[in-house]
Amino acid sequence: MAGSDVIPRDGSGPDGEPDGRWSGPWPDGWSVDHVAETTSTNDDLLHAARRDEVPDRGVLAADHQTAGRGRLDRRWDAPAGRNLLVSILFREVPEVASVLTQTVGLALVHGLESLAGRPLGPRLGLKWPNDVVIGDRKLAGVLAQRCTTTGAVVVGTGVNVGWAPPGAASVLDDLDLDVAPAEVLHHLLVAHDALVADAVGRGAAVIARMTTIGRRVRVLLPAERELVGTARGVDDVGRLVVETDDGRSHVLDVGDVVHLRPLERRPG
Ligand code: BTN
Repeated sequence: MAGSDVIPRDGSGPDGEPDGRWSGPWPDGWSVDHVAETTSTNDDLLHAARRDEVPDRGVLAADHQTAGRGRLDRRWDAPAGRNLLVSILFREVPEVASVLTQTVGLALVHGLESLAGRPLGPRLGLKWPNDVVIGDRKLAGVLAQRCTTTGAVVVGTGVNVGWAPPGAASVLDDLDLDVAPAEVLHHLLVAHDALVADAVGRGAAVIARMTTIGRRVRVLLPAERELVGTARGVDDVGRLVVETDDGRSHVLDVGDVVHLRPLERRPG
Protein backbone atom coordinates (compact mmCIF):
# COMPACT_ATOMS: atom_id res chain seq x y z
CA MET A 1 0.00 0.00 0.00
CA ALA A 2 1.35 3.41 -0.83
CA GLY A 3 1.13 6.55 1.28
CA SER A 4 -1.57 7.45 3.76
CA ASP A 5 -3.39 9.64 1.24
CA VAL A 6 -4.53 6.86 -1.06
CA ILE A 7 -7.37 5.45 1.03
CA PRO A 8 -10.43 7.53 1.88
CA ARG A 9 -11.53 7.25 5.51
CA ASP A 10 -15.23 6.97 4.74
CA GLY A 11 -15.17 3.27 3.90
CA SER A 12 -14.98 3.52 0.12
CA GLY A 13 -12.05 2.56 -2.06
CA PRO A 14 -10.32 4.87 -4.53
CA ASP A 15 -12.99 3.97 -7.09
CA GLY A 16 -15.87 4.22 -4.61
CA GLU A 17 -16.18 0.45 -4.21
CA PRO A 18 -16.90 -0.39 -0.58
CA ASP A 19 -14.25 -3.11 -0.41
CA GLY A 20 -11.65 -1.47 -2.65
CA ARG A 21 -9.26 -0.37 0.05
CA TRP A 22 -9.14 -3.84 1.53
CA SER A 23 -7.90 -5.40 -1.66
CA GLY A 24 -4.23 -5.00 -0.77
CA PRO A 25 -1.56 -5.75 -1.75
CA TRP A 26 -0.77 -7.13 1.70
CA PRO A 27 2.63 -8.24 2.98
CA ASP A 28 3.59 -11.80 1.96
CA GLY A 29 2.20 -14.62 4.07
CA TRP A 30 -0.96 -12.86 5.26
CA SER A 31 -4.34 -13.81 3.76
CA VAL A 32 -6.60 -10.84 4.38
CA ASP A 33 -10.36 -11.02 4.02
CA HIS A 34 -12.81 -8.22 4.71
CA VAL A 35 -16.56 -8.12 5.27
CA ALA A 36 -18.92 -5.22 5.75
CA GLU A 37 -20.63 -6.77 8.77
CA THR A 38 -20.45 -9.82 10.97
CA THR A 39 -21.18 -10.77 14.56
CA SER A 40 -17.56 -10.98 15.66
CA THR A 41 -14.41 -11.52 13.61
CA ASN A 42 -12.98 -13.54 16.50
CA ASP A 43 -16.01 -15.86 16.44
CA ASP A 44 -15.76 -16.22 12.67
CA LEU A 45 -12.10 -17.23 12.76
CA LEU A 46 -12.66 -19.59 15.69
CA HIS A 47 -15.25 -21.39 13.56
CA ALA A 48 -12.90 -21.31 10.59
CA ALA A 49 -10.08 -22.69 12.75
CA ARG A 50 -11.93 -26.02 12.89
CA ARG A 51 -11.97 -26.23 9.10
CA ASP A 52 -9.12 -26.02 6.65
CA GLU A 53 -10.43 -23.01 4.79
CA VAL A 54 -8.40 -20.35 6.59
CA PRO A 55 -4.61 -20.79 6.74
CA ASP A 56 -2.13 -19.82 9.43
CA ARG A 57 -2.02 -16.00 9.54
CA GLY A 58 -5.46 -15.75 7.97
CA VAL A 59 -6.88 -12.31 8.72
CA LEU A 60 -10.52 -11.23 8.87
CA ALA A 61 -11.53 -7.57 9.16
CA ALA A 62 -15.02 -6.13 9.41
CA ASP A 63 -16.43 -2.63 9.07
CA HIS A 64 -18.97 -3.45 11.75
CA GLN A 65 -19.58 -6.13 14.37
CA THR A 66 -23.00 -6.78 15.87
CA ALA A 67 -21.63 -8.82 18.78
CA GLY A 68 -18.01 -7.74 19.11
CA ARG A 69 -16.25 -9.36 22.05
CA GLY A 70 -14.01 -7.63 24.55
CA ARG A 71 -11.96 -9.08 27.39
CA LEU A 72 -13.64 -10.40 30.50
CA ASP A 73 -16.93 -11.04 28.65
CA ARG A 74 -17.43 -7.39 27.78
CA ARG A 75 -18.76 -6.09 24.47
CA TRP A 76 -16.67 -4.21 21.95
CA ASP A 77 -18.69 -1.70 19.94
CA ALA A 78 -17.77 0.84 17.29
CA PRO A 79 -19.70 2.66 14.56
CA ALA A 80 -19.42 1.07 11.10
CA GLY A 81 -16.29 1.82 9.11
CA ARG A 82 -14.59 4.11 11.61
CA ASN A 83 -12.26 1.74 13.46
CA LEU A 84 -10.09 -1.27 12.78
CA LEU A 85 -11.87 -4.46 13.84
CA VAL A 86 -9.70 -7.40 12.87
CA SER A 87 -8.74 -10.91 13.92
CA ILE A 88 -5.79 -13.09 12.98
CA LEU A 89 -5.76 -16.88 13.06
CA PHE A 90 -2.47 -18.35 14.26
CA ARG A 91 -2.28 -22.07 13.64
CA GLU A 92 1.36 -22.15 14.70
CA VAL A 93 1.20 -21.27 18.37
CA PRO A 94 4.31 -20.63 20.47
CA GLU A 95 4.73 -22.43 23.80
CA VAL A 96 3.90 -19.18 25.59
CA ALA A 97 0.69 -18.02 23.90
CA SER A 98 0.89 -14.50 25.39
CA VAL A 99 3.74 -13.91 22.94
CA LEU A 100 1.06 -13.73 20.24
CA THR A 101 -0.99 -11.00 21.93
CA GLN A 102 2.03 -8.98 23.00
CA THR A 103 3.45 -9.14 19.50
CA VAL A 104 0.20 -7.89 17.97
CA GLY A 105 0.03 -5.03 20.52
CA LEU A 106 3.63 -4.02 19.92
CA ALA A 107 3.18 -4.35 16.15
CA LEU A 108 0.34 -1.85 16.40
CA VAL A 109 2.58 0.56 18.33
CA HIS A 110 5.34 0.21 15.73
CA GLY A 111 2.85 0.35 12.85
CA LEU A 112 1.45 3.65 14.12
CA GLU A 113 4.95 5.05 14.47
CA SER A 114 5.64 4.05 10.91
CA LEU A 115 2.44 5.78 9.78
CA ALA A 116 3.37 8.89 11.76
CA GLY A 117 6.96 8.77 10.48
CA ARG A 118 8.33 9.40 14.00
CA PRO A 119 8.64 7.76 17.41
CA LEU A 120 5.54 8.25 19.58
CA GLY A 121 6.90 7.02 22.90
CA PRO A 122 6.65 7.30 25.79
CA ARG A 123 3.05 8.49 25.31
CA LEU A 124 2.11 5.58 23.06
CA GLY A 125 2.70 2.29 24.81
CA LEU A 126 1.34 -1.00 26.10
CA LYS A 127 -0.71 -1.48 29.23
CA TRP A 128 -0.78 -4.92 30.82
CA PRO A 129 -2.13 -7.28 29.76
CA ASN A 130 -3.08 -6.37 26.21
CA ASP A 131 -4.05 -2.75 25.77
CA VAL A 132 -2.40 -0.13 23.63
CA VAL A 133 -2.64 3.25 25.33
CA ILE A 134 -1.89 6.88 24.74
CA GLY A 135 -0.97 8.23 28.15
CA ASP A 136 -3.51 6.48 30.33
CA ARG A 137 -6.28 6.35 27.74
CA LYS A 138 -7.05 3.20 25.80
CA LEU A 139 -6.42 3.26 22.07
CA ALA A 140 -6.81 -0.44 21.33
CA GLY A 141 -7.58 -3.73 23.00
CA VAL A 142 -6.45 -7.23 22.12
CA LEU A 143 -8.43 -10.40 22.79
CA ALA A 144 -6.96 -13.89 22.31
CA GLN A 145 -9.15 -16.97 22.17
CA ARG A 146 -8.03 -20.57 21.73
CA CYS A 147 -9.82 -23.07 19.51
CA THR A 148 -10.27 -26.04 21.83
CA THR A 149 -10.33 -28.62 19.05
CA THR A 150 -7.24 -27.57 17.07
CA GLY A 151 -5.21 -25.52 19.58
CA ALA A 152 -5.08 -22.64 17.10
CA VAL A 153 -5.31 -19.16 18.62
CA VAL A 154 -7.33 -16.23 17.29
CA VAL A 155 -5.98 -12.82 18.22
CA GLY A 156 -8.45 -9.99 17.63
CA THR A 157 -7.81 -6.32 18.00
CA GLY A 158 -10.08 -3.33 18.01
CA VAL A 159 -8.26 -0.08 17.28
CA ASN A 160 -9.90 3.31 17.74
CA VAL A 161 -8.90 4.81 14.42
CA GLY A 162 -11.50 7.48 13.64
CA TRP A 163 -13.79 7.13 16.65
CA ALA A 164 -13.33 6.50 20.36
CA PRO A 165 -15.80 5.91 23.18
CA PRO A 166 -15.82 8.52 25.97
CA GLY A 167 -12.55 8.57 27.90
CA ALA A 168 -10.64 6.60 25.26
CA ALA A 169 -8.10 7.77 22.68
CA SER A 170 -8.20 7.61 18.88
CA VAL A 171 -5.57 7.67 16.16
CA LEU A 172 -7.33 10.63 14.58
CA ASP A 173 -7.72 12.87 17.64
CA ASP A 174 -4.74 11.88 19.75
CA LEU A 175 -2.08 11.14 17.14
CA ASP A 176 -3.44 13.57 14.57
CA LEU A 177 -3.30 10.88 11.89
CA ASP A 178 -6.15 10.91 9.38
CA VAL A 179 -5.85 7.33 8.15
CA ALA A 180 -8.14 4.47 7.15
CA PRO A 181 -8.51 1.29 9.20
CA ALA A 182 -7.08 -0.79 6.33
CA GLU A 183 -3.98 1.32 6.32
CA VAL A 184 -3.44 0.79 10.04
CA LEU A 185 -3.77 -2.94 9.43
CA HIS A 186 -1.22 -2.84 6.65
CA HIS A 187 1.36 -1.14 8.86
CA LEU A 188 0.54 -3.48 11.75
CA LEU A 189 1.23 -6.55 9.59
CA VAL A 190 4.51 -5.15 8.26
CA ALA A 191 5.63 -4.35 11.81
CA HIS A 192 4.54 -7.82 12.95
CA ASP A 193 6.80 -9.42 10.34
CA ALA A 194 9.74 -7.36 11.60
CA LEU A 195 9.10 -8.38 15.22
CA VAL A 196 8.86 -12.07 14.36
CA ALA A 197 12.15 -11.78 12.46
CA ASP A 198 13.80 -10.46 15.66
CA ALA A 199 12.50 -12.85 18.32
CA VAL A 200 15.21 -11.89 20.84
CA GLY A 201 14.69 -8.14 20.57
CA ARG A 202 10.92 -8.57 20.64
CA GLY A 203 10.72 -9.54 24.32
CA ALA A 204 12.86 -6.59 25.37
CA ALA A 205 10.88 -4.24 23.15
CA VAL A 206 7.61 -5.35 24.77
CA ILE A 207 9.01 -4.64 28.24
CA ALA A 208 10.41 -1.29 27.11
CA ARG A 209 6.97 -0.17 25.88
CA MET A 210 4.99 -1.63 28.81
CA THR A 211 3.89 1.54 30.61
CA THR A 212 2.45 -0.48 33.51
CA ILE A 213 5.90 -1.47 34.78
CA GLY A 214 7.05 0.77 37.61
CA ARG A 215 3.57 2.22 38.06
CA ARG A 216 1.46 2.12 41.15
CA VAL A 217 -1.54 0.03 40.14
CA ARG A 218 -4.89 -1.20 41.27
CA VAL A 219 -5.62 -4.59 39.74
CA LEU A 220 -9.24 -5.64 39.60
CA LEU A 221 -9.31 -9.41 39.94
CA PRO A 222 -12.02 -12.01 39.34
CA ALA A 223 -14.65 -12.43 42.11
CA GLU A 224 -14.54 -8.69 42.85
CA ARG A 225 -11.18 -8.88 44.55
CA GLU A 226 -8.51 -6.27 44.01
CA LEU A 227 -4.87 -5.65 44.72
CA VAL A 228 -3.02 -2.33 45.11
CA GLY A 229 0.73 -2.18 44.75
CA THR A 230 3.60 -1.41 42.41
CA ALA A 231 3.96 -3.27 39.11
CA ARG A 232 7.49 -4.64 39.17
CA GLY A 233 7.58 -6.50 35.88
CA VAL A 234 6.17 -9.08 33.52
CA ASP A 235 7.48 -12.63 33.82
CA ASP A 236 8.53 -14.84 30.93
CA VAL A 237 5.04 -16.25 30.45
CA GLY A 238 3.45 -12.80 30.35
CA ARG A 239 2.16 -12.58 33.95
CA LEU A 240 2.23 -9.29 35.84
CA VAL A 241 4.30 -9.16 39.02
CA VAL A 242 2.90 -6.73 41.59
CA GLU A 243 4.56 -5.90 44.90
CA THR A 244 2.11 -4.91 47.63
CA ASP A 245 3.05 -2.51 50.42
CA ASP A 246 3.85 -5.38 52.79
CA GLY A 247 6.67 -6.33 50.43
CA ARG A 248 5.01 -9.46 49.06
CA SER A 249 5.08 -10.27 45.35
CA HIS A 250 1.94 -11.39 43.57
CA VAL A 251 2.03 -12.99 40.13
CA LEU A 252 -1.16 -12.31 38.19
CA ASP A 253 -2.30 -13.88 34.97
CA VAL A 254 -5.66 -12.15 34.67
CA GLY A 255 -7.03 -8.80 35.78
CA ASP A 256 -7.87 -5.26 34.83
CA VAL A 257 -5.19 -2.74 35.68
CA VAL A 258 -5.84 0.85 36.71
CA HIS A 259 -2.73 3.03 36.65
CA LEU A 260 -2.71 5.16 39.80
CA ARG A 261 -0.87 8.34 40.56
CA PRO A 262 2.16 7.59 42.77
CA LEU A 263 0.52 8.29 46.15
CA GLU A 264 -3.08 7.50 45.31
CA ARG A 265 -4.61 4.97 47.69
CA ARG A 266 -7.78 2.94 47.66
CA PRO A 267 -10.71 5.23 48.54
CA GLY A 268 -12.11 4.79 52.06
C1 BTN B 1 -10.50 -5.64 24.97
O1 BTN B 1 -11.51 -5.82 25.67
O2 BTN B 1 -9.67 -4.79 25.28
C2 BTN B 1 -10.28 -6.46 23.74
C3 BTN B 1 -11.14 -5.98 22.61
C4 BTN B 1 -10.96 -6.79 21.32
C5 BTN B 1 -11.95 -6.35 20.26
C6 BTN B 1 -11.64 -6.97 18.93
S1 BTN B 1 -12.54 -6.19 17.61
C7 BTN B 1 -12.08 -7.46 16.51
C8 BTN B 1 -12.12 -8.75 17.28
N1 BTN B 1 -13.45 -9.34 17.22
C9 BTN B 1 -14.05 -9.35 18.42
O3 BTN B 1 -15.20 -9.78 18.63
N2 BTN B 1 -13.23 -8.83 19.34
C10 BTN B 1 -11.95 -8.44 18.78
